[in-house]
Amino acid sequence: MDVAIFNLERDHRDLKDQLIEKFKDVLERGEYILGDEVRTFEEAFATYIGVKYAVGVGSGTDAIRIGGLACGLEKGDKFVTTPNTYISTAMSLSIHGLQPIFCDIELTTYNMDPQMLEDTLKKEKGIKLCIPVHLYGHPCMMDEILDICKRHGVMVMEDACQAHGSLYKDKKVGGLGDIGAFSFYPTKNLGCYGDGGIITTNSEKIYKKAEMLRIYGQSSKHVHEIEGFNSRLDEVQAALLSIKLKKLDSWNKKRRHIAWLYKRELDDAPVVLPHEAPWAYHIYHLYVIRVKERDKLMGYLKEKGITTLIHYPTPIHLQHVYKKLGYEKGAFPNSEKASEEILSLPMFPSMKEDEVLYVARSIREFYGLKV
Ligand SMILES: Cc1ncc(COP(=O)(O)O)c(C=O)c1O
Repeated sequence: MDVAIFNLERDHRDLKDQLIEKFKDVLERGEYILGDEVRTFEEAFATYIGVKYAVGVGSGTDAIRIGGLACGLEKGDKFVTTPNTYISTAMSLSIHGLQPIFCDIELTTYNMDPQMLEDTLKKEKGIKLCIPVHLYGHPCMMDEILDICKRHGVMVMEDACQAHGSLYKDKKVGGLGDIGAFSFYPTKNLGCYGDGGIITTNSEKIYKKAEMLRIYGQSSKHVHEIEGFNSRLDEVQAALLSIKLKKLDSWNKKRRHIAWLYKRELDDAPVVLPHEAPWAYHIYHLYVIRVKERDKLMGYLKEKGITTLIHYPTPIHLQHVYKKLGYEKGAFPNSEKASEEILSLPMFPSMKEDEVLYVARSIREFYGLKV
């Protein structure tokens, strides 16, 4: 049996007719940029997250960079994030001359360790923004992070690019800090058919600045108050996302059921399974296990027709592009350990029970356990 890491065509099959109808509808109306579809989706997404404002942009990367600049950060300012995230978390802002500072994670959820954050903020003066990443769909310890940042006068931008619908103490992530950034890259729990992203906030000031930044710094037609970009979620994507948003919670439930099946099948195996904190609602964007013999297991599963991936094999402080920051190997032991041992197993809402069992049983076989 072949098991892919995700299967978008199968996930969306029962929506196909609706999506095609909507696509035709947008084409026929002839309004393709910042029209009713974008406004409607922004309102629906803001309501879903529980914030006042949402601003649709061109990608998750753009949500982070426009978000950071909308928070008032300028060239030379410092921000703190974790090294075991997608490179975009840091690069979206470092490309504008902002300086990334890294702080380590804790190894149960792979998210920012609040104690490490506190230590970093004490040691490194002048940090203006903290970007906790709700990695794999598990929320960060937001009460602690928000409290520490408040005491140090640091703003908080949640990188919720992998966490659409994830809950921290019954509240949606992306609405807990000053600002949230989401990606609609096709494989995300809520994905579009190309690139897309959105910014969420309760601050009118941040909202207004983000709206200007996404369209050449324009406050009204042909009036440009600040320098900005061209980064807008387009009408077609927004229209299709509006249809898919209605399915998000049920897709997340399916992902949780698959996670439950994996746990049932692998509980006695010598692998570290994903942890869900008692205060968390994990939406399993990725199902990441940790094993010492990762590369061998990956090869074994490949032979069995099972695709796995590593998110991410190199912590970003060790990426060539960030050598200039001067971090050495060993600087962030937990992130480095994670990068050597993590393995993402197939996980997508339409994954069938026999596919989950096949993956789990292949892992059991690898370890010589009873199947
Ligand atoms: C944690 C994280 N941050 C940022 C991004 C960037 O999003 P995009 O690919 O839409 O630019 C991604 C997506 O790949 C991500 O997973």
